[in-house]
Amino acid sequence: MPSRSPQPETPKGLIVGIALGAIIVLIAIIIFFIYYRRKKRKEALSSKGISSKPNQLPVLGPVSHETPSTSGSLGSEKPSPGILRLSQGVFSYEELAMATNGFSNTNLVGEGGFGYVHKGVFRDGKVVAIKQLKAESRQGEREFQAEIEIVSRIHHRHLVSLVGYCVTGAQRMLVYEFIPNNTLEFHLHGKERPTMNWSTRMKIAVGSAKGLAYLHEDCQPKIIHRDVKAANILLDDSFEAKVADFGLAKHSLDTDTHVSTRVMGTFGYMAPEYASSGKLTEKSDVFSFGVVLLELITGRRPINRTQSFLDDSIVDWARPLLKQALKEGTYDALVDPKLQGDYDSSEMTRMISCAAACICPSAGLRPQMSQVIP
Ligand SMILES: *[C@@H]1O[C@H](CO)[C@@H](O)[C@H](O)[C@H]1NC(C)=O
Ligand SMILES: *[C@@H]1O[C@H](CO)[C@@H](O)[C@H](O)[C@H]1NC(C)=O
Ligand SMILES: *[C@@H]1O[C@H](CO)[C@@H](O)[C@H](O)[C@H]1NC(C)=O
Repeated sequence: MPSRSPQPETPKGLIVGIALGAIIVLIAIIIFFIYYRRKKRKEALSSKGISSKPNQLPVLGPVSHETPSTSGSLGSEKPSPGILRLSQGVFSYEELAMATNGFSNTNLVGEGGFGYVHKGVFRDGKVVAIKQLKAESRQGEREFQAEIEIVSRIHHRHLVSLVGYCVTGAQRMLVYEFIPNNTLEFHLHGKERPTMNWSTRMKIAVGSAKGLAYLHEDCQPKIIHRDVKAANILLDDSFEAKVADFGLAKHSLDTDTHVSTRVMGTFGYMAPEYASSGKLTEKSDVFSFGVVLLELITGRRPINRTQSFLDDSIVDWARPLLKQALKEGTYDALVDPKLQGDYDSSEMTRMISCAAACICPSAGLRPQMSQVIP
């Protein structure tokens, strides 16, 4: 059939044209705004990185073999609100049971006041650590999920990622990426472990400081760990530190102990103001980090029951020795004898002054985590 007169089609084409044009302009505006906001945010982040550089406070690094921090990729690591990856992270009990051979003893990799940790392998080969929370939490499920949502968005080279969770009845389980080489506590204090050399100790100190600095200063809302300790610093294949167990600390409270206060750090690591009044700031994490540094320096445990009662805490024992070491430049009384003097003395000086600053009794005088790292 031959086409009819073209007249009625012209206005129709015009309308379609105008509509298309309007849509294209609208899309361009939206793209521009998204781009502009990203750029703004990136600028804010990088300027923050520069302005928060330490001045006269003690700094752990520079560490020769350390790649220049994660700050280059900060923008992409920033947890972005709005993207809920959570739906992928909800596991059924059956899935987790299958991955762990029915939570068998051979898969058991950890046990504590909080409950059990099993190693699990999914069908696709992904290896995870599954933490069963022992007692049912006093928190409602919605609050639990809200916290999980925040934590599962946090990804950083020196933090253990939360992959997902599972709720069946009163039972709650958390699924984490698997970190293969146990904890700092195991390698430093475990029976018959080979001595950890100085460069490894230094690398672990810097890595965990970076992880904590990210929690304190780059997360929205900021996260106070509350339980920084050698047993919560996991080590990967190349002995890089990965800080574990942050953000969900409330759930790992061992309800069997009937602790009535909300204070829940670990004895030997707790900042004095937190232990006495429950006052919690990121500076209490800084104190606990200082105790970890003392462990790395001295090879001693935070509490030594074989010592006299007054000296049993590493902090009280080390304070006068730190002062003396910094004044006289002699470290023998303080440093782990197992190192047999094999350490870089300028690195040792830096770690000692960092430790001294971090365990300062007055919270206000302790450095921020970002001031500790190079
Ligand atoms: C320290 O130990 C690590 C891991 O065991 C090893 O890779 C490294 O070469 C050691 N460094 C020195 C200086 O011995
Ligand atoms: C770290 O873990 C890997 C894998 O489990 C293992 O092959 C390696 O020997 C471990 N390294 C150390 C120093 O324990
Ligand atoms: C505990 O203290 C004693 C006495 O000072 C010391 O010899 C020992 O090395 C310490 N042990 C630990 C694990 O810190």
